[in-house]
Amino acid sequence: MGIFIASDHAGFELKEYLKNHFDLLDLGTHSAESCDYPVFAKKLIVRLKEGDRGVLICGTGIGMSIAANRFQNVRAALCFNEEMAVLSRQHNDANVIVLGARMISKEVARKCVEKFLATDFEGGRHQRRLDLIADGCSNTD
Ligand code: RB5
Repeated sequence: MGIFIASDHAGFELKEYLKNHFDLLDLGTHSAESCDYPVFAKKLIVRLKEGDRGVLICGTGIGMSIAANRFQNVRAALCFNEEMAVLSRQHNDANVIVLGARMISKEVARKCVEKFLATDFEGGRHQRRLDLIADGCSNTD
């Protein structure tokens, strides 16, 4: 399983911090100079294969979430605490965790990533719901 990380300038410092705690493949950005988060969302998503995980960071986490979830087979979850990180795996089979560097502390972010990487998907009724999403929610009437 490859674990990729990418951020914009707002997430740069948190990205560097997380690299000290996990074995992450860094896809940029590589400085705190202003840049565009969709560029880095795409750099990460195109590298994701089945079983891989991604960590995306911007200021709020919102922009990265919107950008990442435009791609097929991406389930990107914006998490503010450990419980959300656990549930994003158990219920949503999230393959990307999104963090808002201006919204949470580095310590909370580290704990979120820890849980995200350690928690398994529960399947069952949750798989049925993911199948509905994968199908564009076309069978939900
Ligand atoms: C950059 O200033 C900021 O807009 C970006 O990091 C992110 O929060 C967007 O959603």
